Amino acid sequence: MTDRYLELANANITKTLFDGLGLPTPVRLVREDSNNPHKLSGHVLLGTSEGASFTKAIDSILAETPVTMASGEGPGKVSLVFDASGISTAEQSTQLYKFFNRHLSALAQCGRVIVIGHKPGALKDTGHATLQRGLVGFVKSVAKEIGRKSATANLLYIDKGGKTAIEAPLRFLLSAGSTFMNAQVLYASKPVTSFEADWTRPLEGKSVVVTGAARGIGLAISQVLARDGATVIGIDVPQAETELKAAMADIKGLSLPLDITGEGAADTLVTFCQNQGRGLHSIIHNAGITRDKMLSRMTPVQWELLMQVNLGAAQRINEALLATELLDNGGKIVGVASISGIAGNVGQTNYGFSKSAVIGMVDSLAVPCGKRGITINAVAPGFIETQMTAAIPFVTRQMGRRLSSLSQGGLPVDVAEVIGFFVSPQAAGINGNTVRVCGQSLLGA
Ligand code: NAI
Repeated sequence: MTDRYLELANANITKTLFDGLGLPTPVRLVREDSNNPHKLSGHVLLGTSEGASFTKAIDSILAETPVTMASGEGPGKVSLVFDASGISTAEQSTQLYKFFNRHLSALAQCGRVIVIGHKPGALKDTGHATLQRGLVGFVKSVAKEIGRKSATANLLYIDKGGKTAIEAPLRFLLSAGSTFMNAQVLYASKPVTSFEADWTRPLEGKSVVVTGAARGIGLAISQVLARDGATVIGIDVPQAETELKAAMADIKGLSLPLDITGEGAADTLVTFCQNQGRGLHSIIHNAGITRDKMLSRMTPVQWELLMQVNLGAAQRINEALLATELLDNGGKIVGVASISGIAGNVGQTNYGFSKSAVIGMVDSLAVPCGKRGITINAVAPGFIETQMTAAIPFVTRQMGRRLSSLSQGGLPVDVAEVIGFFVSPQAAGINGNTVRVCGQSLLGA
């Protein structure tokens, strides 16, 4: 689906008119180059607070990438990274203010603001924890100020571990893959398993399962994971077998036509994976449906069918997989929630419940999975340009797009890139996160 408003706002002939009328002019987002993904570039200005814990680690991580460290004196356009972990008093918060007050005007279009702090709950000093919590409000407010440049701001909280905890999320947040992830808090800890970091084809030689892979976001996830080296086992309903087979043939993947709500579906999936003769690296629970109706008019079928596709099937598949050792030591589970599961939505009591429960699934399985070297995380997409959102009436659709700080909807690939990060072996310290991929939508922000 094309966003005509975005096209016109960026076209040579109409751009001046948009500017003259004072209309918001969303900047087209920069996305990964599919032939050369994960390549970092540009200039980064690194700031720090007194007594900060992570600056040396951040400095050495950045030194190993192609980004250029900026001094802050030149007029060059930059991304801004600030180690705020040292801030433990109200007075010290001025250090954060001073850095951004001085340098925010140098932020590049589609640039990044990344603030790094200590996870408040992990700190013994209550004053320190209080001030670290303040970073959330700061980052979300910065994101609203810089959205007109299509720049994003995110907060990375470190629980345990230094360089090994920071490296993968920092690289991802700086990359084009995080373009529609905005105003989010990501928790990172010491990796739960050891891994070989491959920053260009992280999934080389690995098998992944994607449900609902025939179209939309599931198709984009399959394509991104295949680009990153994975053999994708795509699952979709038997009615979509032709599309599924074509999609998997394109990426040299395998097709498994299967209704995930059918009896024995979870066992069929596990047996299929076991028969491949190699372990399973990840499962992406993407298949999902909507059955919108005001609650008083909703039929039992509209509630029950949706709950089985969006939630029950994912739970049964997890249970069946976790009863084996297929995912042990480095495996990944990813749920696909929605901002409707965070904010709620009119006519979506069933959908909101199921997607909120997907977040609950992540929260409740993170610890037991972590003990086995498995991570579980979820994305909560906002307005994404798919067949589902194309069916929304014109005015509501326009409003849905402009509600984000980036004044545009995301593409399926934006959700897929965040999932690609979650399942990359180097993200072994990212467990129990639900990240919104919504460009900082006003809905439930
Ligand atoms: P879509 O409707 O385009 O694709 C969903 C796929 O899941 C279809 O290929 C469908 O055949 C498959 N599927 C449905 N029931 C199945 C079953 N019983 N067994 C196997 N496969 C089944 O949807 P879209 O937009 O790509 O959404 C993907 C996921 O993202 C869903 O979980 C949705 O709830 C979520 N989402 C989408 C948003 C958007 O803006 N499009 C926003 C927030 C969340």
